[in-house]
Amino acid sequence: MKIFLDTANVDSIQKYSEMGVIDGITTNPTLLSKETGNPIKTMKKIVEIVRGPVSLEIVATTFDRMMEESLKLAEYGENVVVKVPMTVDGLKVVKALTNKGIKTNVTLIFSANQALLAAKAGATYVSPFIGRLDDIGSEGLNLVSEIIQIFVGYEYTTQVLVASVRHPLHVIESAKMGADVVTLPPEILDKMIKHPLSDKGLDLFLSDWKKIEKDNPNLSF
Ligand code: E4P
Repeated sequence: MKIFLDTANVDSIQKYSEMGVIDGITTNPTLLSKETGNPIKTMKKIVEIVRGPVSLEIVATTFDRMMEESLKLAEYGENVVVKVPMTVDGLKVVKALTNKGIKTNVTLIFSANQALLAAKAGATYVSPFIGRLDDIGSEGLNLVSEIIQIFVGYEYTTQVLVASVRHPLHVIESAKMGADVVTLPPEILDKMIKHPLSDKGLDLFLSDWKKIEKDNPNLSF
């Protein structure tokens, strides 16, 4: 399963990319609104520093304007994936961009029907927002399972990109179901790295090594 970072923060992207576990980035207008500076420059910078796919979202709502924005975003780099909202015009945009060889990520997916239509339109990725479903008392992970079942059954190549992830258990369950990608806020990645027994174990190893050093003052690897 690929792991994308769900952020528009360039420092975070640089920091986590160095760990070698990040395969791509997803952004959205809300994430960009949390950053200082010109959002266009920020998006261009992210595309420049990341090798993998970077989802950049359009904000127009009518076909012509959506296409205009999409084509401009696609020019930022070969790794750009145009993030398109799940609407009637959005599906038309996905079809048109797919015909031009431009990758798309259909965002704001809350039902299996929406995912099916996005796949039929040729989407590269669909993004079910599982945390927002959990927030309203619906089981977000059930949606992931349904979409995977449909895509596998009909051999759609559209990838399931699990979004709106709220905790590490969402990641484990998505992986067990066979999701193609999960996109994670940096805080969740931090929680996945940490385990109290890892910290405790390391402290013990280091203190035991210090004892060895005490008896062998000139030790070095
Ligand atoms: C990513 O593509 C989505 O925009 C993001 O995961 C949404 O997450 P949220 O529901 O926490 O805003």
